[in-house]
Amino acid sequence: MAYHGSSYRSQLTGYKVVFIPMHGTKAGTPHDVVTGWLLAGGGSVWGRPVELLVAADGSLLTSDDDVGVVYRLATAGRKDTGTEGHMSPRLSVGGADPMNEAVQTALNRQIKHEFSSAHFYLSASGYCESISLTGFAGWLRQQSREEVGHALRIFDFMHDRGSRAELQALDQPGRDFVSLLDVFTQALQHEQAVTASINEIYALAVREQDYPTQVLLQWFITEQVEEEKSVSQILEELRMVGDSSSALLMLQRELGTRRAVAPMPAAAS
Ligand SMILES: [Fe+2]
Ligand SMILES: [Fe+2]
Repeated sequence: MAYHGSSYRSQLTGYKVVFIPMHGTKAGTPHDVVTGWLLAGGGSVWGRPVELLVAADGSLLTSDDDVGVVYRLATAGRKDTGTEGHMSPRLSVGGADPMNEAVQTALNRQIKHEFSSAHFYLSASGYCESISLTGFAGWLRQQSREEVGHALRIFDFMHDRGSRAELQALDQPGRDFVSLLDVFTQALQHEQAVTASINEIYALAVREQDYPTQVLLQWFITEQVEEEKSVSQILEELRMVGDSSSALLMLQRELGTRRAVAPMPAAAS
């Protein structure tokens, strides 16, 4: 189990991968398997483990959504050292295997989709600015920034895997919005298309047994559920608002308070 870590405690906890033995349906005492994300002294954190996946060779893959990398934990020298029953962890950042060409092509295409999403939301933000709905404009602008973060997440992942991301030309985003309902209807269609694309790449990564890419995409699959949900919710609220300008102003005040939920991934080092 990966403990992502809690920053709300007076003393920081989590930030580790543990093994929990099961005795029937009862959980036993957790044993630390990988630690070190919380630095000595307890005040400083450099990463947060999230998803876990056991690869075909028995190694354990862990993604870290704070610094955007995938770790591979493998055993080393168990037979020689006679330390049967104890793992001798060796962490390596990124995968040792070269990336499959079809997966690389798909990820490059997804980078384009994410940047296209950023363009779409920024264009929609401009439309809202032009009709003085600054709260909606702010929400859409923030969404645009998050989409850039998504693109960079894949960009960095590819370089961590020893590949080279290839940026592609972007299509001009639509600008002829006719109403807020139109903006968010298009946004939902856009997100549904991105979800389908992510699912397709995940299926490809499964076929190609590309485990690090599967771990990366699990984050995106979760994110897409959130994205579709939040856009659908706004769409529903807009339908409820109808012609009421006071309700519309309340909604846009609420949306205008949106702040970044996660920092942009740092460049791969
Ligand atoms: Fe995205
Ligand atoms: Fe999105």
